[in-house]
Amino acid sequence: MSSNNLSLKYWSSPNKWFLDAYNDTLLQKIIHGPLKLRVELALAATKLCSAKTFLDLGCGPSRVLYRSLKETDVTSAIGLDFSPRMLEESKQFLSKKNVLDKVQLINCDLIATPEYPKADIAIGLGLFDYISDPELVLKKAHLSSNYVVASWVRPSIRNYLRRFRYSCELYTHTEKEVSQFFNNIGISSVSFIECGPMCGFISISSKN
Ligand SMILES: C[S@@+](CC[C@H](N)C(=O)[O-])C[C@H]1O[C@@H](n2cnc3c(N)ncnc32)[C@H](O)[C@@H]1O
Repeated sequence: MSSNNLSLKYWSSPNKWFLDAYNDTLLQKIIHGPLKLRVELALAATKLCSAKTFLDLGCGPSRVLYRSLKETDVTSAIGLDFSPRMLEESKQFLSKKNVLDKVQLINCDLIATPEYPKADIAIGLGLFDYISDPELVLKKAHLSSNYVVASWVRPSIRNYLRRFRYSCELYTHTEKEVSQFFNNIGISSVSFIECGPMCGFISISSKN
């Protein structure tokens, strides 16, 4: 099975641990501090660029997409994901929150699909851990949006050990490698924000 299919299989299972990570309990804050940080950074970037349209690449359960609609100037959002289970979870969650009419959920493989819908900002949080060709996805993200916020995990003992909990490939990168991806696609305005030496970092990039 290809690494992308293994990843799809992994994200087609319930992954309750991931949904639980969005609970605001002290325990989840301790365990998932970097996840919480990347969400706040993506929302801060969305506010700062006054984005009205929001593209969530690998939207998963759409917890971040929902917050973009509630806490920023965003009026419509698009969630792309290749996992029907995650899209169904998103649909139920967004419907319960009464915002489904502002959202388009699309089932697609971000590697295979030739282009992404246009938006003011695109985010890819927790996505690039599973992407075999990150440069291709970044390129399509920047063709669709001026601003891109992405999270990356770096080679570390913690991320090495994660491999034993997952049944799919996990891709790690250094800041130098990610800088090179941006360089190769012609994006020179990139900021890196540290999320902890054992974890990874966030990139916030802009076309202008
Ligand atoms: C760690 S989850 C992150 C979900 C969401 N971005 C968040 O931060 O809550 C990774 C998501 O990326 C999706 N994904 C991974 N590879 C993908 C691909 N090639 N095409 C589309 N979605 C993909 C998975 O299905 C999963 O929902």
